[in-house]
Amino acid sequence: MFIGITGASGFVGRSLVELALQRGHEVIAFTRSPQNQIPGCEMRPFSLTAPPDLSGCEAIIHLAGESVVGLWTRSKMQRILNSRVEGTRRIAEAFASMPAPPEVLVSGSAIGFYGNRLEEELTEDAPVGTGFLADTTALWEAEALRVKNARVVLARTSLVLGKKGGALKAMLPAFRAGLGGPIGNGQQWMSWIHETDQARLLLFAAENLEVCGPLNASAPWPVRNEKFTRELARVLRRPAFFRVPAWALRPLGEFRHELLDSKRVLPQSALAHGFGFQFPELAPALKHLLG
Ligand SMILES: NC(=O)c1ccc[n+]([C@@H]2O[C@H](COP(=O)([O-])OP(=O)(O)OC[C@H]3O[C@@H](n4cnc5c(N)ncnc54)[C@H](OP(=O)(O)O)[C@@H]3O)[C@@H](O)[C@H]2O)c1
Repeated sequence: MFIGITGASGFVGRSLVELALQRGHEVIAFTRSPQNQIPGCEMRPFSLTAPPDLSGCEAIIHLAGESVVGLWTRSKMQRILNSRVEGTRRIAEAFASMPAPPEVLVSGSAIGFYGNRLEEELTEDAPVGTGFLADTTALWEAEALRVKNARVVLARTSLVLGKKGGALKAMLPAFRAGLGGPIGNGQQWMSWIHETDQARLLLFAAENLEVCGPLNASAPWPVRNEKFTRELARVLRRPAFFRVPAWALRPLGEFRHELLDSKRVLPQSALAHGFGFQFPELAPALKHLLG
């Protein structure tokens, strides 16, 4: 299959490209810096101002967007929103202009869609929540749904666990120094997915004609933050006595909600379509990455 990937240079994109190439797919990487060759890929430009050239692509997996990690200043929040809404709109415009468009758009989305939901089990039919990321994700998904001439999958992604990026990489220094610990009261649910399963699920969605609409990209066994902390400390053989009180996160602005909010997400659609998770449980996933 000829697969176009935006955000191919990013954390999730890199493991997706690797798996797609291993499986014999041709990869066209869309990026703001096409001069930076990604091994094995054809490079094409991607921008927020003009529709990309999707010719020859059979599937598009769209992962580009400003990182949500870090201090959410007003301009950062604007970039988080704009990069997703404008970027996805350009892709929808490219689809609309093509008499024979790619067969499928797997559009990145996030479990931020659900907001803060305490104990509720969240399958794909749960309604949108409240807050900045919920609003952003709803607008982002609406842009992808403008594509009317192809199958559209909305990959609502949870915390992707990998060594080379994302939240785990950010947590490791503190945990390795024995300074890790639960955040807030530690009772919030964390939904996560191993990077290999994330890449496998994105390709599964591209290849499987039955998969359509929202798709929770999340392992079947979410855990409370306290358990996540305990397992991570155990795999690293370090103590985790320290608690990070909710007030200490205030300097992070709105981003603190992403650490304190509870999302107990279940991958109902993936399981119903027969997707087999290689890492359904946290401890083996962490051991595989860090053991
Ligand atoms: N990692 C996670 O745990 C996680 C969780 C939930 C959802 N997601 C979603 O999954 C997607 C991929 O995540 P990731 O962790 O791989 O992200 P990432 O490492 O930050 O990479 C995203 C890519 O998007 C492009 N990009 C960055 N800022 C941009 C901007 N302002 N405008 C346009 N393009 C921009 C960059 O590609 P170029 O520089 O090559 O253009 C970058 O490599 C994102 O949409 C993210 O929201 C990720």
